[in-house]
Amino acid sequence: MAPTTAARTRAAFLLPIFLLAVVAWPGAAAAAAAQAGGYRVVSVARAGGVLSARLQLAGGGARAELGPDVQSLSLTASLETDSRLHVRITDADHQRWEVPQDIIPRNPPHHFSLAASTTNTSPRSRVLSAATSDLTFTLHTSPFFRFTVSRRSSGDVLFDTSPHLVFKDKYLELTTALPGATASLYGLGEHTKRTFRLQRNDTFTLWNADIAASNLDLNLYGSHPFYLDVRSGAGAGASHGVLLLNSNGMDIEYGGSYLTYKVIGGVLDFYFFAGQTPLDVVDQYTQLIGRPAPMPYWSFGFHQCRYGYKNLADLEGVVAGYAKARIPLEVMWTDIDYMDAFKDFTLDPVNFPAGPMRRFVDRLHQNGQKYVVILDPGINVNETYGTFIRGMQQDVFLKWNNSNYLGKVWPGYVYFPDFLNPRAATFWAKEISLFRRTLPVDGLWIDMNEISNFIDPPTLNTIDDPPYRINNSGVHRPLNNKTVPASAVHYGGVREYDAHNLYGFLEARATHGALIADTGRRPFVLSRSTFVGSGRYTAHWTGDNAATWDDLRYSINTMLSFGLFGIPMVGADICGFSGNTTEELCSRWIQLGAFYPFSRDHSAIGTIRRELYLWETVARSARKALGLRYRLLPYIYTLMHEAHTTGAPMARPLFFSYPKDVNTYGVDRQFLLGRGVLVSPVLKPGATAVDAYFPAGRWFNLFDYSLTVASVTGKRVTLPAPVDTVNVHVAGGNILPMQRPAVTTSRSRQNVFHLVVALGEDGEADGELFLDDGESPEMGGEHGKWALVRFTCGTGPGGGVTVKSHVVHDSYGPSRKLVVGKVVFLGLRSPATKGELAVFVNGVKAANSTTGRAAALGYRRGGGVAQVTGLSLPIGKEFELKVAML
Ligand SMILES: *[C@@H]1O[C@H](CO)[C@@H](O)[C@H](O)[C@H]1NC(C)=O
Ligand SMILES: *[C@@H]1O[C@H](CO)[C@@H](O)[C@H](O)[C@H]1NC(C)=O
Ligand SMILES: *[C@@H]1O[C@H](CO)[C@@H](O)[C@H](O)[C@H]1NC(C)=O
Ligand SMILES: *[C@@H]1O[C@H](CO)[C@@H](O)[C@H](O)[C@H]1NC(C)=O
Ligand SMILES: *[C@@H]1O[C@H](CO)[C@@H](O)[C@H](O)[C@H]1NC(C)=O
Ligand SMILES: *[C@@H]1O[C@H](CO)[C@@H](O)[C@H](O)[C@H]1NC(C)=O
Ligand SMILES: *[C@@H]1O[C@H](CO)[C@@H](O)[C@H](O)[C@H]1NC(C)=O
Repeated sequence: MAPTTAARTRAAFLLPIFLLAVVAWPGAAAAAAAQAGGYRVVSVARAGGVLSARLQLAGGGARAELGPDVQSLSLTASLETDSRLHVRITDADHQRWEVPQDIIPRNPPHHFSLAASTTNTSPRSRVLSAATSDLTFTLHTSPFFRFTVSRRSSGDVLFDTSPHLVFKDKYLELTTALPGATASLYGLGEHTKRTFRLQRNDTFTLWNADIAASNLDLNLYGSHPFYLDVRSGAGAGASHGVLLLNSNGMDIEYGGSYLTYKVIGGVLDFYFFAGQTPLDVVDQYTQLIGRPAPMPYWSFGFHQCRYGYKNLADLEGVVAGYAKARIPLEVMWTDIDYMDAFKDFTLDPVNFPAGPMRRFVDRLHQNGQKYVVILDPGINVNETYGTFIRGMQQDVFLKWNNSNYLGKVWPGYVYFPDFLNPRAATFWAKEISLFRRTLPVDGLWIDMNEISNFIDPPTLNTIDDPPYRINNSGVHRPLNNKTVPASAVHYGGVREYDAHNLYGFLEARATHGALIADTGRRPFVLSRSTFVGSGRYTAHWTGDNAATWDDLRYSINTMLSFGLFGIPMVGADICGFSGNTTEELCSRWIQLGAFYPFSRDHSAIGTIRRELYLWETVARSARKALGLRYRLLPYIYTLMHEAHTTGAPMARPLFFSYPKDVNTYGVDRQFLLGRGVLVSPVLKPGATAVDAYFPAGRWFNLFDYSLTVASVTGKRVTLPAPVDTVNVHVAGGNILPMQRPAVTTSRSRQNVFHLVVALGEDGEADGELFLDDGESPEMGGEHGKWALVRFTCGTGPGGGVTVKSHVVHDSYGPSRKLVVGKVVFLGLRSPATKGELAVFVNGVKAANSTTGRAAALGYRRGGGVAQVTGLSLPIGKEFELKVAML
């Protein structure tokens, strides 16, 4: 957008500006600022759409024990898009560490985007606003510096900082007030949390660590300093997002009426996303941090893994076990067991010998199945090991004290590739490519990349052990605990202290790039450690959970959080990783896990086996739940496309579809797949019923098509949930593209499509279907070959219904051969008299060539269900299907 004159919008904002200017922080905080810390505004300037200010330390500073205060700060604020505000505060005189541009590409601070105006209607404040932006920024100048961000349309104050700003070399502190009664917050990970909605009085520590996910409220594998704030009260559902783009360690204290950031480095770099629906927020957020990577179609099949598979025969037995039990197995995995003495890119010559392994993988491929193995970042220091020798020759390892940093992991002593070094990505790609010549694996699983280290490096200085100790591991452990030293040095002189949280991101990027280069196909990477933007490259699993009912329940919270973080392909280890599972727990877990976007059973060495065919009740649950998952694959894959193009999570909290229903804000024992498929799993032992919340509308059971709920308000319902049953419902108003299931996705993809048309109260419904080959690197886009078809359905005055398809895009040849064979209508008005259905396809009455009667088959009286079968409507050709009640 070109800069234009900005003053024209001023008049419209006078009132809100004035109101904002007099908003005062609670007196106590102002008093605290007067005693300790705080900055005065010494100058304010505007250039283009950017408001900038210089701040000077006031008084004696704060918390002297944490080091001297930075004397002079510079602030910039700009409305970068209609929905994004950027506020950055840094040292005015010295450059500081910031997340590198190539990790999150973004506008430089003085980039001008929106025609914004600034006004100083009060002597104590300056306002930055723009005609097209719902966000306004107010800089308050007196008595101390602070700022507010507000929503122009409602006057709601979204972010309201205290004057108590602390800015030191290794300690930054900023607090914002929140309306405790009306703000519901989500995000700020990675932690295993008791609830999806953040609990007040919790501190969220961000420092990537190899801490098992079975621990509550500790900093885990990834760092995502982003939250979604959904407001109740007047205008319920108005949502915005806040990112602190900072890779340093931090504690974020949430007190309900405030949120305090305590950060040990970098800069205060905030992005505010205006929303105002939750879907808008994730769209705006992933526009900045990058859209989620498309995942290959096969990765939506079911995966089986275990740490502790003994040998190739063991793997073959598992594959055969699934086939025999008729439970779909798409992908077989192997943990570190396959390696020679745990060295990356090697095969154990005795238990997993190269030749037979190659033939095993070839057989999997012939059956339409896939194979994925694990890689750890540490490269064994071993003079006879090719990967090590090449790594040394190319000098790619992380440095410390002027030599390679020596850590210890599974293979013993290791050096870690420094993925900030461009040579490391080249080295890694070459090793992956060489390994794939021996064993053509279909995807890669990158573990231990926090980085995990089995030795505790010494803390030598204030980089290893800074004056403010974040709550690492819940007991304020030194930063170095079980990782590489914070004083280790990356390429370009970057300190591990600053880049620590980026390692998993960088390894995922390198692995993703390596797989594309080697295969030419869409990569599948699964990473344990993640950072802001990792979704561009990788899927995530929730890490080392335990086989407990609590872990089963909490998996929903983590899954939903990663949806907000732009990593929609996520799931937890089904049946639990550590500890011994039970038949009942495993059965309930597959009933939930069948609807994780990433669905994998995985377990730890030394625990009892938990492949789904081992118990009859688990097998029954698996066949039933995975059967529905496979029927839903076209819908799930269409959600992948939506995620890739708009950032929409695949698994969503209920409030994403029902933001005005405040009762949904605390729901985290159920979730939605996409807009309208509601999963209500059993999460308690011994239960044969489940209490489920249904937002207003009609809800149909997806197993038997019965109408479960029809209500004008949200409603709690106790649903039967016998041992082999999970409750899955579709909301009226949705058309789901489905397909007859098969034992692999490559086969199910050839099958005929079914449309399930769940009519809303208004007799209408819509939905869409995305199709492509499932493995081209690009999903959609200008050059890709793909089809996108929208379906709409309306009801006529006589109760007849018409489904129409609209081909939005079609460059995918097979869309002319793949057909819709069946359409199922749910929620039809029953005809007054017993009658026949007449079916018209593109205006022509359809008749069965044998009987001369309409192709319509079933019609369940009272149930409002009609099935039209025997159709053959090519996906790529627009059609109109009318069903009239005679
Ligand atoms: C949070 O802590 C404050 C102060 O200690 C206390 O008054 C309040 O009851 C706590 N709230 C919750 C929900 O625990
Ligand atoms: C190096 O690797 C070889 C082959 O796996 C192994 O026999 C040897 O023990 C390793 N040496 C060290 C020092 O780890
Ligand atoms: C750093 O390297 C020097 C020279 O090799 C060595 O003397 C010193 O012990 C090393 N320091 C540590 C903490 O390992
Ligand atoms: C540190 O984390 C632990 C575990 O979550 C928690 O119990 C403790 O209160 C936290 N300490 C502080 C100071 O926040
Ligand atoms: C590091 O973590 C381990 C547990 O993993 C703990 O036993 C050890 O005491 C910690 N080290 C320090 C210095 O806190
Ligand atoms: C799990 O079961 C195995 C085999 O019965 C047993 O050896 C192991 O101790 C059990 N583990 C736990 C954590 O109970
Ligand atoms: C036509 O009717 C015959 C006899 O009822 C039935 O077997 C067949 O499935 C029907 N064909 C279609 C396409 O519905």
